Order: sequence, then C-alpha cells, then structure tokens
Amino acid sequence: MVGAGLPGAQHTADGVCVFKCLLNRDTECCRVGKESVLITLGYSSVLLKFESHADLSSFSHTLRSCRTERKEPSVFSQRTEEASAVQYFEFYGCISQQQNMMQDSVRTATYQRAFLQNHIDFRDKVVLDVGCGSGILSFFAVQAGARKVYAVEASSVAQYAEMLVKTNHLSDKIIVLPGKIEDVSLPEAIDVIVSEPMGYMLFNERMLESYLHSKKWLKENGMMFPTFSDIHLAPFSDEQLYMEHYSRANFWHQQCFYGVNLSSLQAAAVDEYFRQPIVDTFDVRILVARTVKYTVNFMDAEEADLHRVEIPFVFQMTQSGLIHGLAFWFDVAFVGSVVTVWLSTAPTEPLTHWYQVRCLLHTPLFAKEGETLSGTVLFVANRRQSYDIHIVALVNQTGFRSGNTLDLKNPFFRAQ
Ligand SMILES: C[S@@+](CC[C@H](N)C(=O)[O-])C[C@H]1O[C@@H](n2cnc3c(N)ncnc32)[C@H](O)[C@@H]1O
Repeated sequence: MVGAGLPGAQHTADGVCVFKCLLNRDTECCRVGKESVLITLGYSSVLLKFESHADLSSFSHTLRSCRTERKEPSVFSQRTEEASAVQYFEFYGCISQQQNMMQDSVRTATYQRAFLQNHIDFRDKVVLDVGCGSGILSFFAVQAGARKVYAVEASSVAQYAEMLVKTNHLSDKIIVLPGKIEDVSLPEAIDVIVSEPMGYMLFNERMLESYLHSKKWLKENGMMFPTFSDIHLAPFSDEQLYMEHYSRANFWHQQCFYGVNLSSLQAAAVDEYFRQPIVDTFDVRILVARTVKYTVNFMDAEEADLHRVEIPFVFQMTQSGLIHGLAFWFDVAFVGSVVTVWLSTAPTEPLTHWYQVRCLLHTPLFAKEGETLSGTVLFVANRRQSYDIHIVALVNQTGFRSGNTLDLKNPFFRAQ
C-alpha cells in the first residue's frame, strides 16, 4: 500500500506504514491497470495495489455497496434551504471574506493567544477545526503543539486551506477534509474541538449548531475552544437612530413620483425597515439600564437547544427617558487548563467585525429612573440559516407596552 507522507498515513510499532481512511459513497476512485485502484481523498490521491485479482474484486464489491447505500439527508440539509446554503458557502468560498475575518486582529490574535497560553491542552492532542476556512485556527492548534488536526470546511476555500497546509509543510499534521461537519467521517475520536462559529448577534448563520453537532466526535473528557458564550442585552435611548430609520421609509410618502402616488406603501416600507436589526457601534452612554446576560454553554448544549432561544429580561432604569430598543453583543470564553481567555464584542472593548446589534421597538417607551422594563426576546431559528427575533417589552409601573419582530438574516449595516 502506498501511503507514506499522505494524510491518514501512520506507522505501526514495528515501523510499517499503514494508510487508514474511511470510504463512502462520495469517495472518488477509478481502476488503474489490472490490479490497482486510485482513490482521491480531498486534494490527495492514494494508489492501492492489490496482491491478487480476488482482493481487488472484494474491495470493489465493498465500495459498490457503500455507493448504493441510501443516503439520509444530513442534519444540516434538513434544517437549511438549499438556496441559502449555496449562497452561504459561495460567500465563504471567497478569499476576500476569509481575509476580512483574518484581518479582524482582535478576533484572530485572541484565538491564537487562547490556544498558545493553554498549550498543555493541545500538546500531542488530536484537534478538530470545524469550518476551518483558510485553516488559520488549525495552524494555531499546531503552533500550540497539536499532533494532528482535522480541518473540515464545506466551502470551496478548502482547496486554498490545503494549499496553505502544503506550502507551510504541515501535510503530516493538518488534514483538510472538504465537506460539511454534519456529513464528513473522521478516522478517530477528538481531544479538542476548535471553531469560530459566531455570527452577528452570536446566533446568525446557525453555525453554532454545526459546532455542537461536531461533539459527536469528541472524547468524553474532550475540550471545546470556545467553551461558552454570553449574550448581553440592554435598553437604549437613541432618538436620532429611530428618526433616521423612520425617514428611510419617507421615500414612499411621495404622492407624485414621476406622476405615481407611492403613499399606499409607506406603512409596508416602515414595517420592512423596522424588521432590520442594525449593525454598528455606539457610545455606551445611550444605554439606560444595566445589562442582562444569557449563557450558552457549548459543552452542555445540544443543537435542538438553539432552535428556540428565549431570553427573559427585567431591566431597572438608571435614567429617565425614551427607550427606542434593545442593544445586543456577545463574549466567548476559552476555558483552558491554564487560563480562561475572553473574546469580547462589547461596545466598551476594541471594535470587531461583529460590531454590536440594535433592535428597535416599533413605538418608543417612556420610563422613569428606578422603573422596570420587563419582557422577553425570543429567537426562532429559520431555514435560511438565521432567526426571527420577537421582542415584547412592558414598563411595569405604567403598563406601557411595545415590541417588534425582526429578521436577523437581513440586517442593516449602518457602521461606516
Ligand atoms: C466564520 S468562518 C471561520 C473561518 C476560520 N475558522 C477562521 O477562523 O478564520 C466559518 C467557516 O465555517 C465554514 N462552515 C460553516 N458551516 C459549516 C459546516 N456545517 N461544515 C463545514 N464548514 C462550515 C464556512 O464555510 C466558513 O469558512
């Protein structure tokens, strides 16, 4: 068997090179000559030479039965519209998008620091990088001492990750596996899972579910980097933002646009604009109460826990005034054996590419200092890899109520 230097090649105690790989119906292979088969795994190929024709026939028979096996739709495809998935992975297939994330130096440097400072958790360990993109986290895992990293990536950027692995001479350590984490097979159990699955408002993209799904490969005492996340929310007062949003719909107020009366659509336009969460940053002085926090512990949570996330809140007003909406941001924690490292997207911290997100209330609510604003934020997952957000809020002392329903898939990028 030819295998030395290839992904999956290992040496037994007596020095024999053995090539281990899993074959499934998607494996590409073809006959070469009378007694050989060429198998292509990702971006590497292996030539299997059989000792006898009988061995070759038996192998071919097994492979055929794998290929005709009925394939159940994966967890990912069951929860995702095809069109959404195509657009999503095309986006991440672009080198420019990977660069955009890599150039978020708060993000990238924090990941590297979290791994290196906890190097004892990586030393000689088998690591899984879920959604490896360029492979940057896999490289960090190797820098921290990982013995082997399985780098799974569903978009076409996997081919570039493989190029980086080769040109950095790490093909013996980092195995790039093109495909979705929900579909790929790994040849062994995993000590540490690493990933960067956070979207706007933490939950957008529903990649956290893929991250949780990957735990099926994790050893009993395995670790996850990041380990948990806190989403923070607080009411804010921002008259300018509210008016700006409202006046975006004023276009539809016109009664003679090239001779056409548009005004019957103004209400629909206001509705549409108010469904957009706003992505930008702000001065923390607009916050009118202390934050409420909701934790998702990746070690304990299951995929289904993220299908419907309900966050109840009671805010005590620290100043009187109008409440125009709720502001959101998140932190993730890397809990290592040496230190816990935090990556924060708070408005008080250096800005990241996640910014912060604000959701407006349809009608602003007046509340006085000391009064309480209570209600819930409900995130309901949809098949477009995102969430519908339902907010209800009540000023307890006056009974004034407001709310809004927003579409996280379609945010308004207000950041300059
Ligand atoms: C936010 S990017 C992070 C990329 C890289 N890990 C980094 O930190 O720069 C997420 C990556 O995960 C990939 N991805 C998302 N869902 C996936 C899934 N279910 N299986 C495999 N890859 C996935 C995306 O294509 C994208 O490249």
